[in-house]
Amino acid sequence: MDISQIRREYSKTKLTKKSVREDPVEQFDIWLDEAIKSECKEPTAMVVSTVSKDNKPSSRTVLLKGIDNGEFIFYTNYQSRKGQQIEHNPNVAALFYWAELERQVCIEGTVRKTSPEESDAYFQTRPWKSRIGAIISPQSQPIESRNVIVKAFILEMTKHAKSVPRPDHWGGYRIRPNRIEFWQGRPNRLHDRVLFELMEDGSWQIHRLAP
Ligand SMILES: Cc1cc2nc3c(=O)[nH]c(=O)nc-3n(C[C@H](O)[C@H](O)[C@H](O)COP(=O)(O)O)c2cc1C
Repeated sequence: MDISQIRREYSKTKLTKKSVREDPVEQFDIWLDEAIKSECKEPTAMVVSTVSKDNKPSSRTVLLKGIDNGEFIFYTNYQSRKGQQIEHNPNVAALFYWAELERQVCIEGTVRKTSPEESDAYFQTRPWKSRIGAIISPQSQPIESRNVIVKAFILEMTKHAKSVPRPDHWGGYRIRPNRIEFWQGRPNRLHDRVLFELMEDGSWQIHRLAP
């Protein structure tokens, strides 16, 4: 199959500097809401990129679990590869692609851990078995076989009747954005791009970017 000939024309709608909110997080909220209502698959999935000690980037998908005080929240294992990279370098990027709406949002910013109380509160809303899984999985570590993890899972289930405490190695991160770009696909590859950059005084400057 000749993949070089796979292409799609984008023509759903447009995006202008005038039509966006002054606050990019409000604008994001509107787009996320539209992604959910349009039944985009995994509307809250975002690709988070981190950078290693030796400046090598890596990416993976996580789920956005909330937006609060202008920050984007996700949960993971603090000892995972991403967690270790964040320890050394809090600069991250997060990317949403809503194919059904021909939209992309690229976020850049710095990340910090959520408070233990906030992580506890979210952890307790997870299904019981997901909580058990979070306890026993040494996320990102090599393991001998799937069986190792299944055995650990079964054993851990016998230890918790109902209440499962959040392990210290698991919790949330909050991304505080300093750059957010909204991308709307347009015909002939002349896409609309609106960039918000955070200024020192806390205001957002808006630019249109060339496609
Ligand atoms: C749709 C989707 C959602 C995911 N959501 C999460 C998540 O919220 N948290 C998480 O730790 N991993 C999530 N993962 C798994 C990550 O992509 C990744 O495999 C894992 O976090 C380990 O990444 P790391 O080794 O780079 O740290 C998700 C994967 C997919 C495909």
